[in-house]
Amino acid sequence: MIKKCLFPAAGYGTRFLPATKSMPKEMMPVVNKPLIEYGVDEAIQAGMNRICIVTGRGKNPLMDHFDKNYELEHQISGTNKEELLVDIRDIIDSAYFTYIRQREMKGLGHAILTGRELVGNEPFAVVLADDLCVTNEEQQGVLAQMAELYKQFRCSIVAVEEVPEEETHKYGVISGQMLRDDLFRVDNMVEKPDPGTAPSNLAIIGRYILTPDIFDIIEQTEPGKGGEIQITDALMQQAQTGCVLAYKFKGKRFDCGSVEGYIDATNYCFEHVYKKGKHKELAQQQTGKK
Ligand code: UTP
Repeated sequence: MIKKCLFPAAGYGTRFLPATKSMPKEMMPVVNKPLIEYGVDEAIQAGMNRICIVTGRGKNPLMDHFDKNYELEHQISGTNKEELLVDIRDIIDSAYFTYIRQREMKGLGHAILTGRELVGNEPFAVVLADDLCVTNEEQQGVLAQMAELYKQFRCSIVAVEEVPEEETHKYGVISGQMLRDDLFRVDNMVEKPDPGTAPSNLAIIGRYILTPDIFDIIEQTEPGKGGEIQITDALMQQAQTGCVLAYKFKGKRFDCGSVEGYIDATNYCFEHVYKKGKHKELAQQQTGKK
């Protein structure tokens, strides 16, 4: 039902300087895939094959990644290295990519508003690629879990995770009425609350489903914390006039915008994603040989 997924990817990635001085943060590899590829894969698995990316200056490698590279393809054609391109080829073939540039980095809310031209007047998902979400084989991806919920509730949904109290100041934090173990109707939302003032320990992570009325709300939203237009402030407005749900997703999330989270993600994905894939490949080759 939700076809479009917006990737705000225009931020400066200052926490990762100097690596991000001339390379987009979203292109940093976790094992052998850039961060954004994990997010796009999650979106496609949730049935969203219209990928809308908000880019900015210095972000051209993002566009190149989701395009053919004829010279490289020619070079490795017929060699055993070709299989390394299978996943990205599948992604390119199964999705449509559109791009728009955010000229001034005025915050996540502003980046989402910039994506309006690509999204139009329909519900859409938002992925912040530096939050890497992984699920086990029995679980659906986090966006797919949220898309299921959207079918039932038809309102904006934010993914939340319990974080230690001393870390709440890094996130948008919600409080709300518990509808079930893993679902809340939001009644308060604060962006990066000062220590000791967070309404709960439920932090918003980089997965959202938004109804299109959010665009008009963002347009009316004044700059908030850090002088940026905050999506949290717009969502709070939407929660007051309509309904916003917060969903405690199933799975694991790594904050790859921070050095610690990025290293944890790399170690985890090497053990649980990359090596598993290699074992499967080997098993398939062996069965093929028999
Ligand atoms: P972050 O808060 O992680 O900011 O943005 P950042 O600039 O990427 O990284 P740091 O904090 O300086 O290290 C959250 C998401 O919103 C996007 C970012 O690209 C990231 O995916 N964003 C943020 C924009 O697209 N435009 C903005 O103006 C701000």
